[in-house]
Amino acid sequence: MTKFKATAIACSNIAFLKYWGKRDESLNLPMNPSISMTLDEQVSTKTTVEFSDEYSEDEFYLNGKKETGEKLERVKKFLDIVREKAKVISENSFPTGSGIASSASGFAALTAASTRALNLNLSLKELSALARLGSGSACRSIYNGFVEWQDEYAIQIKDKNHWPEIRDLIVLVADNEKKISSREAMQLTVKTSKKYKERLNSINMMYFKIKRAIINKDFVNLCEAIMKESDNLHECMLDTEPKLDYLNEISYEVKNMIKEINKKIVKAAYTFDAGPNAHIITLDKYVDEILIELKRKNLNFIVSKCNGGIRYLWKQKHMEKYYYLELIQY
Ligand code: PMV
Repeated sequence: MTKFKATAIACSNIAFLKYWGKRDESLNLPMNPSISMTLDEQVSTKTTVEFSDEYSEDEFYLNGKKETGEKLERVKKFLDIVREKAKVISENSFPTGSGIASSASGFAALTAASTRALNLNLSLKELSALARLGSGSACRSIYNGFVEWQDEYAIQIKDKNHWPEIRDLIVLVADNEKKISSREAMQLTVKTSKKYKERLNSINMMYFKIKRAIINKDFVNLCEAIMKESDNLHECMLDTEPKLDYLNEISYEVKNMIKEINKKIVKAAYTFDAGPNAHIITLDKYVDEILIELKRKNLNFIVSKCNGGIRYLWKQKHMEKYYYLELIQY
């Protein structure tokens, strides 16, 4: 019996410029460039992959539950690129049902653990290109800091130490409703939305604006661009046939709260992915003021720094604790 096993952690990321639409569906190549900030281990996935000739079929456990159906199929399809039969155990660090999508951290951790178990020794560019085939946003989660993705793999714009004051306050809005996955939804927008065509015409300008604001640590311009971009994407989603309505009442409440907070000086930006959770991008010095407002509204939140990057873990047999094997920077 031969067994190959590895464990890796990857963190989720929040896109300032959002990936929405594929120019090549089979290769999972994006219509437009995207830019994101990788988050810390409070929003991460730890995945162990064990390949063994002992297994007759793949098994996938997510947060302690054995998965069947679509979730298992996505993992199997991804493993088919690298593999043998495997047992995959994944745990998300954030609360289940909180509405945080885990495909970015999930597929980045799966990429790292599966290739490590097989001793493939891939570079970060190669890991990113492979992660892309699992989920587009996952290719950015291979790196720490600020990351952009345009083609086969993502690249780092600035590392996690570039802007230590920046924070993402993730407002946890439970997402019980079964919504259409971003994978399918984005292609509906490409096919049916008129506003999406206009979005693509102005996206390069937005790309340079956001990238420049990150490099220059220009918080006010970054916030204005992030909110404009998120609003634009959600207008395109609502213009899709059938209509993609990802935000709920609480999302709109948070949006209005940020507009109110920003009346005198810009202190924060809201941004939403394909779900109702608000991500509030702000600076360390404004966090307490915003948290008072969130607590007043009885909302749960996570305060994440810019961090991330793949970490490999090592566990001694019969021991409970994991140890960091090494930290891959970039
Ligand atoms: O990679 P996917 O299929 O999870 O799509 C991600 C889409 C957004 O989260 C809405 C935007 C982004 O760039 O992360």
